Amino acid sequence: MEITEPKAVKTIVIASGKGGVGKTNITANLAVALSKTGKKVLVFDADLGLCNINVLLNLTTKYTIQDLFMGELRLKDIIVDGPGGIKILPASSGIQELTALDEFQRLRLIEEFELYDEDVDYLLIDAPSGISSNVAFFCTASQDIIIVTSAEPTALTDAYALIKVLFINHQEKNFKVLINEVKNEAEATDVFIRLSDAAEQFLSISLDYMGFIPYDELIPMAVRQQKALMEIYPESNAAKSFLRIAKALNLNSDTHLKGTLQIILGGLIKTSC
Ligand SMILES: Nc1ncnc2c1ncn2[C@@H]1O[C@H](COP(=O)(O)OP(=O)(O)OP(=O)(O)O)[C@@H](O)[C@H]1O
Ligand SMILES: [Mg+2]
Repeated sequence: MEITEPKAVKTIVIASGKGGVGKTNITANLAVALSKTGKKVLVFDADLGLCNINVLLNLTTKYTIQDLFMGELRLKDIIVDGPGGIKILPASSGIQELTALDEFQRLRLIEEFELYDEDVDYLLIDAPSGISSNVAFFCTASQDIIIVTSAEPTALTDAYALIKVLFINHQEKNFKVLINEVKNEAEATDVFIRLSDAAEQFLSISLDYMGFIPYDELIPMAVRQQKALMEIYPESNAAKSFLRIAKALNLNSDTHLKGTLQIILGGLIKTSC
């Protein structure tokens, strides 16, 4: 009998307080960027009631996560190929029941990830916006939490509110902050400092600065063409930023265990007789 070592899969959730700050575009393009660095990436569209990624990338999906909860399908029956070699687990559209997973559905999801035995280096989870029970579940189940915010005061206030709920109600204290749609690094660090000062002053936690994605008009252009920016505009400023962030993630691949999805995917032990 041959026993292979468990493989550490890095599970990262991309969340935000306010909607529309760029989570889905960031998830899709960061996934393609990581894939360009040679990593195997699975993207999970966890905006379960309002699918985003398959529309963003114009993917044809026969099944969705709803089929998993309804019956016999396995994760690998539902997962589809995305651009640049990434894999995508699509959500369903207009299914309100899925906006608050119950205990049975959560267990089913965890069990399915346990059975998924494809090679994966990164699981990126595109969370719904806000502070719902699903958001809390995906954040506590992931190894890393990326909080996305733009420079808008409402986005910053909502990012702080999400951090506060995750800290006070779920004891989360490690957050990486990614600033989107800014002019340059100076504006990004200014936005980050405003958020991290508030977190330090009122919650006594220090946030990690992850970098920024500049405002780039090629992102909405790619959205309109339903293609990943990383694929059609690889020389754009935003694409270069995605690649920089992907490389930084690869360098900083600490393997602290935290969260069910990470432990389960990372804890796969394959045996063959
Ligand atoms: N860096 C950027 N530069 C220019 N436009 C951007 C940038 N990031 C995102 N956008 C635009 O912002 C819009 C919202 O992006 P996206 O759908 O990724 O946000 P979201 O946070 O996933 O929204 P939701 O909360 O509804 O899921 C898109 O139309 C996209 O074109
Ligand atoms: Mg989205």
